Amino acid sequence: MKLDIAHVWDVSSATYDDKEGHGIQGEIEREAWKTLFQSLLPPGRLEVLDAGCGTGEVGILFAELGNHVTGLDLSEKMLAKAREKTREKTSGKQYDITFRAGDAENPPFEAGIFDVVVTRHLLWTLPHPETAVRNWKKVLRKGGVIIVIDGLYNGGLIERKTRQFISDFLTLLVERRYPGRRQYPDKIKNELPNPNGVPPKKTIEYFRKAGFENIKDLDLKEISEIQKEKMSFRKRIVFKPQSHLIYGEKV
Ligand SMILES: C[S@@+](CC[C@H](N)C(=O)[O-])C[C@H]1O[C@@H](n2cnc3c(N)ncnc32)[C@H](O)[C@@H]1O
Repeated sequence: MKLDIAHVWDVSSATYDDKEGHGIQGEIEREAWKTLFQSLLPPGRLEVLDAGCGTGEVGILFAELGNHVTGLDLSEKMLAKAREKTREKTSGKQYDITFRAGDAENPPFEAGIFDVVVTRHLLWTLPHPETAVRNWKKVLRKGGVIIVIDGLYNGGLIERKTRQFISDFLTLLVERRYPGRRQYPDKIKNELPNPNGVPPKKTIEYFRKAGFENIKDLDLKEISEIQKEKMSFRKRIVFKPQSHLIYGEKV
């Protein structure tokens, strides 16, 4: 099943960054994310694990904040994109960041070596999210922090279908094409406890069960509004921000 998941993201890697909410679209959004992360992090140069790093968008921000980052992902093609972006020749910058292939549910690292575990849009696609959160706690040092960004991507069934219908209709009308939608096949979806995204309450429950403390649930409305500015009209009118950031500490 993990091979099937990796394959979906291998295929998606070519265009992943083009979509608002995936690739960070411009300096305003970059700075908004960095300000938010900085407000949550302890001082100093931190060892950061970006679990399910994809094309490296979030890991690169942590590296720009002066930290050493390890990006871990199942998809070799997403990792290739991430490596390309951080190559000095391409980016013109030097990043303290390394990428490796592996399963974020069972991160292949010694216990207690990271100050931060961050994941964006990964939790929903894990077959065993509760185990994953427990394992992320293991690789954190005492005093380390966990940051999980996820969302309820599709809302309720009726609302989702209505939004998709309006969006598809407008795309047909304005762009004269039917928008292909990237979706997991049922074979994968049926194995996931949260195939339409993870409600904040559930992420908090995973954190509590794993023994994280000082848990915070932060609103990402400001960043969603910035993302909305960059969307085409047809996307903007059906966009409903439902992203959240859950923070916890290993005390
Ligand atoms: C929606 S993308 C998010 C990528 C990135 N975190 C971001 O915010 O842009 C999900 C990523 O999780 C990766 N992934 C899915 N299951 C994984 C697992 N068990 N271990 C590691 N990576 C996984 C996929 O290959 C894909 O790159």
